[in-house]
Amino acid sequence: MQKDVIVACDFASAEKTFSFLDQFTGRKPFVKIGMELFYAEGPSIVREIKRRGHRIFLDLKLHDIPNTVKKAMAVLSALDVDICNLHAAGTKRMMEAALEGLTRPDGTRPLLIAVTQLTSTDQESMENDLWIHRPMDEVVMHYARNARDAGLDGVVCSPLEAEKVHQCCGEDFITVTPGVRFADGDVGDQKRVMTPAQARRAGSDLIVVGRPITAAADPVAAYERCIREFVEGEDNE
Ligand code: C5P
Repeated sequence: MQKDVIVACDFASAEKTFSFLDQFTGRKPFVKIGMELFYAEGPSIVREIKRRGHRIFLDLKLHDIPNTVKKAMAVLSALDVDICNLHAAGTKRMMEAALEGLTRPDGTRPLLIAVTQLTSTDQESMENDLWIHRPMDEVVMHYARNARDAGLDGVVCSPLEAEKVHQCCGEDFITVTPGVRFADGDVGDQKRVMTPAQARRAGSDLIVVGRPITAAADPVAAYERCIREFVEGEDNE
């Protein structure tokens, strides 16, 4: 997969989103639309961002009974996004149903990737709340294998797990990794972070970057820096 930077548009309104995107007059970033923006503005925000020429990762993390997820995915597929996602915890059967729903009559479909364990879930909460008594990295790899066996294209994971996921599921299995920070930037609430250059070396295919770009004094310059370090391999570390 061609490496790219996905900008997390974690805004609460179309107005804020477009005043942010309007600054990108050259290269159009690949954009992530999450629950906040989608629930605030509905499908029209997806159509408008697409119309402006951006590729879109629609990050809605579906998790329900297979039939419901299949039908919901068919609706999302008609929005012509590039990547959709779901929770691998919904089982292989749910993931297979999702793929069926996502596939259009002409056989094309958006890429489908799975969340393994959320990075907000740690070993302790996984054991105490979810009653999963295995080491986190084994659980993540097991869920990644389930996603691959169900026919999915990849997973969302920490850049620290990207290499192992590729070893386990193949080089073509896509790793989409948030938790990216510049070497000289704020870490914020992310716990385990990597710089764009480190994420490149770790084997991430697509990095998801939010606040280091959206909250930067010059978002376009911050985005271009991510592209140079992650896509083009500039390495000043
Ligand atoms: O602002 P920041 O770069 O931390 O944004 C990261 C984006 O990736 C946010 O939209 C966040 O919800 C998302 N994400 C994450 N960790 C995950 C899954 C998604 O940070 N495990």
